[in-house]
Parts: sequence; C-alpha cells; structure tokens
Amino acid sequence: MKLTILGGGGFRVPLVYGALLTDRGEGRVTEVVLHDLDDSRLYAVARVLAEQAADVPDAPQVTATTDLDEALRGADFIFSAIRVGGLEGRANDERVALAEGVLGQETVGAGGIAYGLRTVPVAVDIAQRVARLAPDAWVINFTNPAGLVTEAMSRHLGDRVIGICDSPVGLGRRIARVLGAKNPQEAWIDYVGLNHLGWVRGLRIAGRDELPRLLADPELLGSFEEGKLFGVDWLRSLGAIPNEYLHYYYFNREAVSAYQQADKTRGAFLADQQARFYQEMRRPDAAALTTWDRTRAEREATYMAENRETAGAGERDADDLSGGYEKVALALMRAIARDERTTLILNVRNQGTLSVLDTDAVIEVPCLVDANGAHPVAVAPLPDHATGLVCSVKAVEREVLAAADSGSRATAVKAFALHPLVDSVNVARRLVEGYTAVHPGLAYLG
Ligand code: G6P
Ligand code: MN
Repeated sequence: MKLTILGGGGFRVPLVYGALLTDRGEGRVTEVVLHDLDDSRLYAVARVLAEQAADVPDAPQVTATTDLDEALRGADFIFSAIRVGGLEGRANDERVALAEGVLGQETVGAGGIAYGLRTVPVAVDIAQRVARLAPDAWVINFTNPAGLVTEAMSRHLGDRVIGICDSPVGLGRRIARVLGAKNPQEAWIDYVGLNHLGWVRGLRIAGRDELPRLLADPELLGSFEEGKLFGVDWLRSLGAIPNEYLHYYYFNREAVSAYQQADKTRGAFLADQQARFYQEMRRPDAAALTTWDRTRAEREATYMAENRETAGAGERDADDLSGGYEKVALALMRAIARDERTTLILNVRNQGTLSVLDTDAVIEVPCLVDANGAHPVAVAPLPDHATGLVCSVKAVEREVLAAADSGSRATAVKAFALHPLVDSVNVARRLVEGYTAVHPGLAYLG
C-alpha cells in the first residue's frame, strides 16, 4: 500500500508517520512518498522520520521527490497537506486583515478567504493530475481552508476526496471524557456544520443523550476547553457546544482586538519558530526527533492562545496537547483499505444531509466509512441561527470558487463583502487591494 504525502516537507508529517508506525495490521501502508516543492524541507522531515523508524522492524519505507506527477503515480492514498505561500503567506493574511480591523485567521473570515483564493487554483491542479494519473486513489485533504479546498477538489474527484480536521474529534473526545465515557469511541456525537463551523447538539452513550446533563451542570460544563472559551452561560443559551473556531464569530470583537495587540500574530510566530526548526535540521549533528518534538510541544501549547486569554481560559489541558488529526487520517485509511467499518466526522458532499444546502456542498458531518468511502449519516436540522451562518459562509465559499475559476476581481470582492465578519463593501475592496499587493499567488485576479 502506497501513501503519497503532498506537503511532505511539512512540520506535521512526523505525526502521520508516527501513526503509521503503530499499524501492524495486514494491508497497512508499506511505502511513503513525500512530495514537496522544497528540497531542504524534505530533507529535514526525512531525518525526523528516519529517527522515528530507527527501532521499528519493517517500518514503512520513505522516499522523497519534488516531482509531483512521479509522486502521484501508483498511489493508493494521497494526503494533501500543503500551505500555498508558506507561513509568511499566513502572516500576511493576518496582517492585511487586522490593519482593516477585521479578523485575519487562516481559515475564518477575511484571512480564510485570502488563503482560499490562493490555495484553490493549486488544489484544483492537483485534483486534475490525480484524476489523470491515479484515478483509483483516495485523496485525504488536510489542506486548509479544508471544507472549501475539499469542495474545489470534489468537482474533479467526486467522493474520492475526503476532508479531515481534528477539531470536531477533539471536541467530541473532551465532552465524552467529562461525561464519564470510558472510551470516547462508545459515544455517538451528533455534530454537523461546515469545517470550523459546526455544533455538537447531542452525545449519546449507550443510547442515551447525555448532553442535557452536561448543560445542566455548570461545574462540568466549565471544566473543558470549549466551556472555558465560550463560558457556561453562553453554552446554556445555545443549548449546544460549538466548535472552538466559532469563538471567532461569537466573540469576534475581542478576538480581533487581542490579535491586533499581540506581539506577533500566530502566523508570524510560527514563521519564526518553523524557520528555526528547519535551520537547525541543516546541522549534520542535530538531534532531529528531539528538536522536532520540542518544537511541536511549543506549537501545541500556544494554539489559540489569544482567544483563551480574552476568555480567561488559562492553559490548555495536558490531554489536549497531543493533536489527533493523524489518528483520524489513519482510521480513515484503514476503514477504506480493509473495509473496517467505522464512524468518523469528515468533510464530504452533502447529498441531502442538510436540506438547506445543495447536494454538492461539502459539509462536516459524521460519516459511516467502509471500502466504498464515506457516507454521511442523517442528522437533525440545525437551528435557524446556525443555518444562517452555514448558508452565509457556504455562499462566500462559492464566490471564492467562482473567483478562482474566472479570475474575476469583482467576484473576489463579493466573497469578502458577503462574509458575516467583514463589515463593509469598502473594507472588502481594500482587502482585495491589500492581498493582491502582497501575494504573488493572487496575480490571477486581473
Ligand atoms: C487545528 C485545526 C487545523 C489547523 C491547526 C492550526 O488543528 O483543526 O485546521 O491547521 O489547528 O494550528 P497552528 O498550530 O498552525 O496554529
Ligand atoms: Mn481543522
């Protein structure tokens, strides 16, 4: 079984490889091909992987290439985890938006639109190559903004592309834990929305919805990440537990001002941190795995730090620091490759699940997964306030896809202007000016 990782020089690749190393079962991945545009990043990550594999008998063999078509040929699974424009691009996405007084975040609001506009054309090119060179492969998309990028790719790959994210999984795990589920797997999580825009409306353990018990108990409710972030009162008003990314909507003013006041934005912080890591990896005597792990721990500990600070949420729980997207990726591959049926929250085409959206709209929803792919399960409709947000943001995503298709600057302005977190058409116009000035990847917007 051959797995190709696009963005193979990326910092999170060792998480995926670490998950593969735990898989001893039949039909497991035996060959990993790393693809990246940058040789030195490939070299750095390959060093970490080599140390990870050192004591593992028959660890998956790793090769690296900068030739995309070569990487795709013969792949059974393709992970796409690319970052168009790099972390400098992310820092610019933040800076331009914050200067206009609106949110600059890699997936939400103006920053997410800018990132989407430069990522979609690249993702579409990849999808077209996959359709030509590896038509039977399954594409697992981690590339953000994950819902939008998955939808762009699905226009060429249909249901062969599946988007993943660790945030609903982490949320489900936290709720299941505070409710006393012995194993989070035994809980059924009623969750739906778009990527980074979803709500848990129920959590059944042994057939019983335990969410009302959580909402009724202020102490329990305030004891985990989302409880601290949103506050007990607001969660009780909602009667649901939102994905952490909804903090940018419900507490937008505070988030924007905290981001404006921060010494460095998240993107700028990570750009520096990661540059140091890749620099260190050039030293022949560097302790690759130890350095990587230390860098990873710092990255995890500071995740959404400004949001937590405005909410007085304190430090992250130790249990939340170990990520989890690699586990979703592995579970998804196993379910498909070995027909090991399981349920996972994934980004797939709607197919009638949410009646307010058309069939091809990519949504985030629990899916039954087997050798035939991911099948969304039926869920209850969202309340009006959530439906409103989901429909607005999906409409924005559609404008981004249209702008990427046509190269129309007016359509790009429309995408920004229609976003609920952009408060004026004039702001949208200036955002397009600002972003096209700093991003070479937006030169196509004539
Ligand atoms: C979560 C999200 C991912 C996102 C990551 C950002 O895991 O689900 O979509 O890429 O956070 O973390 P970072 O360390 O890059 O700020
Ligand atoms: Mn995510």
